[in-house]
Amino acid sequence: LVLVLDFGGQYNQLIARRVREHNVYCEVKPYKTSIEEIKALNPIGIIFTGGPNSVYEEKSPKCDPALFELGVPVLGICYGCQLMAHTLGGEVTAAQEDTAREYGKTETFYNTDCKLFKGLPEQGISWMSHGDYMAKVPEGFELVAHTDMCPTAAIADEKRGFYGVQYHPEVNHTENGSLMLKNFLYEVCHAKGDWTMGDYKNSSIKAIREKVGDGKVLLALSGGVDSSVAAALLAEAVGNQLTCVFVDHGLMRKNEGDEVEAAFSKWDINLIRMNEEDAFLGALKGLTDPEDKRKAIGAQFIRTFEKMGKQIGEQIGKIDYLAQGTIYPDVIESGKDDAAVIKSHHNVGGLPDFVDFKEIIEPLRMLFKDEVRQLGFELGLSEQLVMRQPFPGPGLGIRITGEITKEKCDILREADAIFREEIANAGLDKEINQYFAVLTNTRTVGVMGDSRTYDYALALRGVTTSDFMTADWARIPYEVLDKASSRIVNEVVGVNRIVYDITSKPPATIEWE
Ligand code: XMP
Repeated sequence: LVLVLDFGGQYNQLIARRVREHNVYCEVKPYKTSIEEIKALNPIGIIFTGGPNSVYEEKSPKCDPALFELGVPVLGICYGCQLMAHTLGGEVTAAQEDTAREYGKTETFYNTDCKLFKGLPEQGISWMSHGDYMAKVPEGFELVAHTDMCPTAAIADEKRGFYGVQYHPEVNHTENGSLMLKNFLYEVCHAKGDWTMGDYKNSSIKAIREKVGDGKVLLALSGGVDSSVAAALLAEAVGNQLTCVFVDHGLMRKNEGDEVEAAFSKWDINLIRMNEEDAFLGALKGLTDPEDKRKAIGAQFIRTFEKMGKQIGEQIGKIDYLAQGTIYPDVIESGKDDAAVIKSHHNVGGLPDFVDFKEIIEPLRMLFKDEVRQLGFELGLSEQLVMRQPFPGPGLGIRITGEITKEKCDILREADAIFREEIANAGLDKEINQYFAVLTNTRTVGVMGDSRTYDYALALRGVTTSDFMTADWARIPYEVLDKASSRIVNEVVGVNRIVYDITSKPPATIEWE
């Protein structure tokens, strides 16, 4: 096990994910974890994450100095590096104007005699984000990387196995950053590298069983990849103690409700489908603000579940746990882990007071999308289901700008189905990670036959991405866009203009609302 101690940085789960990518088991724990608990975990290495504080401030998060007496290698990243220097007798100060305050891509020079950089180029871009500076490094440490501004871009005490990097090796912008982490794991910590997603599956199943006991679990199945994988994991762990509720909120894609029902009906779980279109459209009536709409959908889900809960209570008995397919990008974008709120994901958040469950179970909370897919395969789900493009819980509700009505949902469903069909016909469905149609609230003038039309403008969106936290717009060939465009305006009544969205994320987001 490699232990990642969390000091509140933005990329903490990304560090964990990189470690997993190198087939090493890891756990993220708060920086306050006691030294006894750390000893009991018996880690082969410890990684300190970055964090927003300054080590010289009294209230900033610290670590127990005894941690450096365990004989376990430590890698400090950014704040973690400064904390290590500070704790071991070095000196950290706020960077003066002419010294070492660095943000963004920075040319960095490495000493490749150091184990951390073994076999890697001597020079490359690193991603910096620091306003503090290690003015003096602790005894026993050497400087092993520098930039033009900062002589202490990386420090090492190879005898004790202590390494510190001022930049973020876990982000893609740092060239060879992942390989530096790999060197730490293999050259320094002597990791075996035998951990797989299969192990993750087994340990998750064990943990779910321990927590749930003979209790009953309720899961909301949206039909998307995340909730489907969560359902499969829970089905494997607790079998028919699991009840899946599939709420058809009327904001599904064309035929989706029936497909989801068919895909899950063969499993030995209790599957209940609720047709709640009227309730959802009623809750959305008159709303135009994206956050209001998201919140209305979230609130209606809770009301639907409450109603469902009563029904289940009669049929199945008391439910003890509510499970959700929340994945890591949902957690950070909803402002957990102290990151700023970008969108309120309806499936993240505390339980409202009136919901009577013991606890929420979120078995995918630490995983990134591609890891969720890998887990889906481990669980034996079909490729069709696992590789399905993500579909957000609020469904078409976040793909219709302005007020949502049944008429608009029907228009969007038809147009979206045509677009998806054309993408599949062109063999692009695996290359483009998410693609869909968006119904704008703008009507424009057109001409059809000899008549004037005044209908909706519809946008097509396609993105390529690996983690859905950043994304590029997909370069769909003109011929494919052309075919989709002419089919949609010809076959879908109510649409007379098609545009293609060519913004990446950031600055845009993938969904329009
Ligand atoms: P954005 O629009 O934030 O989307 O760039 C990133 C990914 O998350 C999906 N998404 C959601 N998924 N509940 C979900 O389950 C939500 O409220 C939600 N909002 C966005 C979106 O489809 C994309 O894959």
